[in-house]
Amino acid sequence: MNFPIYRMRRLRRTGALRKLVRETELNASDLILPLFVAEGKNVKRPISSMPGHSQLSPDLIKKEVASVYKLGISAVILFGIPKKKDEKGAFAYAPNGPVQQAIRVIKKAVPGLIVITDVCMCEYTSHGHCGIIKNGDVDNDSTLKALAKEALSHARAGADIIAPSDMMDGRVGAIRETLDRNGFSRIPIMSYAAKYASAFYGPFREAAESTPSFGDRRSYQMDPANSDEAIREVELDIEEGADIVMVKPAMPCLDIIRMVKDTFRYPVAAYNVSGEYSMVKAASRKGWLDGEKAMMEMLLSIKRAGADIIVTYFAKEAAALLKKGE
Ligand code: PBG
Repeated sequence: MNFPIYRMRRLRRTGALRKLVRETELNASDLILPLFVAEGKNVKRPISSMPGHSQLSPDLIKKEVASVYKLGISAVILFGIPKKKDEKGAFAYAPNGPVQQAIRVIKKAVPGLIVITDVCMCEYTSHGHCGIIKNGDVDNDSTLKALAKEALSHARAGADIIAPSDMMDGRVGAIRETLDRNGFSRIPIMSYAAKYASAFYGPFREAAESTPSFGDRRSYQMDPANSDEAIREVELDIEEGADIVMVKPAMPCLDIIRMVKDTFRYPVAAYNVSGEYSMVKAASRKGWLDGEKAMMEMLLSIKRAGADIIVTYFAKEAAALLKKGE
């Protein structure tokens, strides 16, 4: 059917018509809010490159999550900022570390909120790499043991979902095996399956104090030039037992999100990373774009690309806007 019999604009004429034929809908329950947990009490350290976000101690996290839950957001994902770091990142599995404490506090205060923990060594190692260093590079197999210990300590503290972000080979299998052997076969794994070595993680490294002190992450995170490789990464994680697979970053990888959804038909998460957040905030502060509209378009596009779940620093703002629109 062609013009003038068929006119695309007929169904765009009013808001009600546009709503009637809308294909994608964003819900607060699709969103996961990242939180940075600092040690101590009454600690609130604003993150300068991420306006609106701060490192918070567990007592302040408790206040924060009550409002997060009220907004209809499904989950938080926790990143730890320990006081002490060492070569091997041993504080990652300290039973009373900041993340372990925050999990307990949140589960007690708001049991209905899903608590996800990021499992990685980079926040805990003195050199800032995502694993244990041998001969100047991250050693894969010894890192697996540390990651499994970290995941187990989060599960013991009460985490609902474990999310490994380190990009070591075999880590999903190693974590699954350790969780199962210790009575945590019910705990799902959301793996950062296709995670690229991206410049868009810049602000996060300030937030999590995890900038590598030498080199970069290109020997373990993916080359942004590749997409076939993403499919292999996701396939391996699924074979090792991943329940939800994640693509990261989100906006530069909308094609990858779509491929992963079409290929595997698994629950797909996308991480709308720190740089994606900060660039919208910066431009909107300068008056160069409408921050709210850009945020909603970004999140909707990620969902349209095939993501069921979006990890985003915009979670609270977006959920509040969605609530207002109801
Ligand atoms: C830890 C981790 C990173 C992010 C999530 N988990 C940083 C990195 O890989 O360097 C990035 C999140 C963001 O930029 O918002 N490995």
